[in-house]
Amino acid sequence: MLTGKKILLGVTGSIATYKTAYLIRELIKLEADVKVIMTSASTDFISPLTLSTLSKHPVAIDFIKNKNGEWENHVELGLWADLFIIAPATANTISKMAYGLCDNLLLASYLSARCPVWIAPAMDLDMFVHHTTKKNIQILEDHGVNIIEPTFGELASGLEGKGRMEEPEVIANQIDALLNQSSNLKGKKIIITGGPTYEAIDPVRFIGNYSSGKTGVILADECAKRGANVTLVLGPSNQKPKNSNIKVLRVNSAEEMFEAVKREWLQTDIGIFSAAVADYRVENISPKKIKKSSDSLTLNLVKNPDILLWTGQHKSNKQYLVGFALETDNEIENAQKKLVKKNLDLLILNSLNDKGAGFKHDTNKVTFVKPNNKLTHFELKPKTLMGIDIVNQIEKDLNE
Ligand code: C5P
Repeated sequence: MLTGKKILLGVTGSIATYKTAYLIRELIKLEADVKVIMTSASTDFISPLTLSTLSKHPVAIDFIKNKNGEWENHVELGLWADLFIIAPATANTISKMAYGLCDNLLLASYLSARCPVWIAPAMDLDMFVHHTTKKNIQILEDHGVNIIEPTFGELASGLEGKGRMEEPEVIANQIDALLNQSSNLKGKKIIITGGPTYEAIDPVRFIGNYSSGKTGVILADECAKRGANVTLVLGPSNQKPKNSNIKVLRVNSAEEMFEAVKREWLQTDIGIFSAAVADYRVENISPKKIKKSSDSLTLNLVKNPDILLWTGQHKSNKQYLVGFALETDNEIENAQKKLVKKNLDLLILNSLNDKGAGFKHDTNKVTFVKPNNKLTHFELKPKTLMGIDIVNQIEKDLNE
């Protein structure tokens, strides 16, 4: 139920506005308090009277309420809401939101909202896949806006494709799940390592690996979504988290990553170490570019600090530690040994033998290894869903 929850519902000009009436009904059925802001274009599609009657509040459309000079306080509306959802969101409004335009009450309220913002796009299929729309949606995602993907089906144009606004019942359930979710990760300080490390050879060359950093970034976003206070120590990677509350510390080498982790660990509740840290570094980094004057070149490598091992050795019984392992043979046995050696609470084992798993891919297939020899095997799935599984497991373990 959404009893006592305040939902600000933005409506823009699309055929899908007829669904907004149903969305209000669904939210009211869940006992939410719903206030509606419409753009003037949306009033061509549905009457404000319908939406004010359903929501039991006057509908706000203009900056000025009436001719007596009373204004509609957009800041107040933005601060009032526990969630601001724009459904349907047209390509026009999405692009204005992405670039901070503020020429109507709905956009001004978006700019002053402090609550989570969701959009449910609705448009014709070609408009949805147009590169400007895609870019604008990406900008909004980067700003932390949650996108409710449109669905496939027949569109108002008569064409068939992706562009239909998600069904009101589904949206209402998603809102219910978000506003009622109370995670035990809320307020917890979590440090996550991600990406590869680059170990310099000379000013232009390095020893690295194929890690993309996707897993670390996904885990950081998932933990932040559940209210944790996340620090992501990220090696060289072109990935970045969506949630702007995440503190990102960019590092290059294993030693830099180690320094960042050591600085933070004492004040940290949970560590998740997904970085693919280079085991060795070059002993003497050449200050100048090495010339190809001789036929062979020998680099002397020395061992890097094992960051996870250090963290496990400095773990108090209030702290929780997760490591990753990529094994090619005797996987389970080696993983169990690693769990004990590094004093971990959870080890995520992924095998290079599985197709679609490991580096570079957007999917992974993992097994959770726990101290009591308990194993949980998962199917091959997108890394985003794997991230949810991992964070769910951490939540569950903290409860026990
Ligand atoms: O021992 P192995 O390298 O297989 O362990 C992998 C786990 O240890 C990963 O969680 C990785 O992030 C972490 N690790 C580390 N520092 C290293 C090597 C690995 O934190 N130098």
